[in-house]
Amino acid sequence: MSMEQKLAKKTAIVTGGGKGIGWAACQTLHRDGFQVAILDRDEASQSRADELGENALFILCDVSDEEAVSEAIKNIEDKFGSIDVLVNNAGIQRYSTVTETTVEEWDLVMNVNLKSAFLCAKHVIPYMQKKGQGVIINVSSVQAFISQQNVAPYTTAKTAMLGLTRSIAVDYGPQIRCTAVCPGTIDTPMLRDSIALSPDPQEVYQECVDMHLLKRIGTPTDVGELIAFLASDKATFFTGQAIRVDGGLGIMVGGSKRS
Ligand SMILES: NC(=O)c1ccc[n+]([C@@H]2O[C@H](COP(=O)([O-])OP(=O)(O)OC[C@H]3O[C@@H](n4cnc5c(N)ncnc54)[C@H](O)[C@@H]3O)[C@@H](O)[C@H]2O)c1
Repeated sequence: MSMEQKLAKKTAIVTGGGKGIGWAACQTLHRDGFQVAILDRDEASQSRADELGENALFILCDVSDEEAVSEAIKNIEDKFGSIDVLVNNAGIQRYSTVTETTVEEWDLVMNVNLKSAFLCAKHVIPYMQKKGQGVIINVSSVQAFISQQNVAPYTTAKTAMLGLTRSIAVDYGPQIRCTAVCPGTIDTPMLRDSIALSPDPQEVYQECVDMHLLKRIGTPTDVGELIAFLASDKATFFTGQAIRVDGGLGIMVGGSKRS
C-alpha cells in the first residue's frame, strides 16, 4: 500500500488488544476501516494481527514501561503515517483489601491499569495534535462507581481513570475527544481466571449473571461496539464522560419487592 493510501485510512491503537475486550475492539475498529495497532505484552497476540491481515500490526510492549510505549508509538506513526484513536484497554485484576495489599502489588496494579493510560496518552497526543484531531477511549469499569470486596487497588485505579479522562477532555478539546467506557461483568480470560480462584466457579458465574438486570454476562463485542461507536464520526459530541455498558448492574436497590 502506498503512503497516500495509508494516510487516507485512520489508525487506532488498542492496548491489551490480544485478548478479551481489547481483541473485540480491534475487530470492530478494523471492520470499520481502521488500521489497527495491537500493543500487548503477550507474544501470542501476533496471531491476532495476522488474523486481521494487512492493515494490522502487533508490537510486543509492556504499556506500563515508558520507554517501550514511546518507541512503540513512534513505530506505529512511522508505519501508518498517523494516529487517530487510542484505546487504553490493558489491565490486570488483583484481589486484596487495603491492609492486605503490599506496596509492590499496589504499584503493579496502578502501573498497569492507570499509569499505562497516562503514558500512552502522553506519547500519542502530540501526534494527534499534529493532525489536529484524535479520540482517546479509556477502558475503566463499573468499579469506578460501585465496588466488590477485596479489590482495593483495582477499584481505585479504575476510578482514577475517570479523572484522567476528564483532564484529557478539558486540556485537549476541542481537537481531541476523550471518553471512558465502564463495562459490567464481561466474559473474557480475565473473568474466567478470576472466577477460577473460587471454590465453586460455576456458582460465582451464575451470581455474576444474576446481578445484571439483563440476566446475562456481557460479551467482549458488547464493549467493542461501544468503543467503535465512540471512535467514529457518529460520536463527535461525546467527550469527558464515563459511559456504562453494564446490563444494568448495580442500579437496582431493594426494599420494595412485590409479592
Ligand atoms: N472482563 C471484565 O469483566 C471487565 C469488566 C470491567 C472492566 N474490564 C477492563 O477491561 C480491560 C480488558 O479486560 P479483559 O477482561 O479483556 O482482560 P484480559 O485479561 O482478558 O485481557 C487483557 C489483555 O491485556 C494485556 N495486558 C495486561 N497487562 C499488560 C501490560 N502491562 N502491557 C500490555 N498488555 C497488557 C494481556 O496480555 C491481555 O491480552 C481491562 O482494563 C479490565 O480492567 C474488564
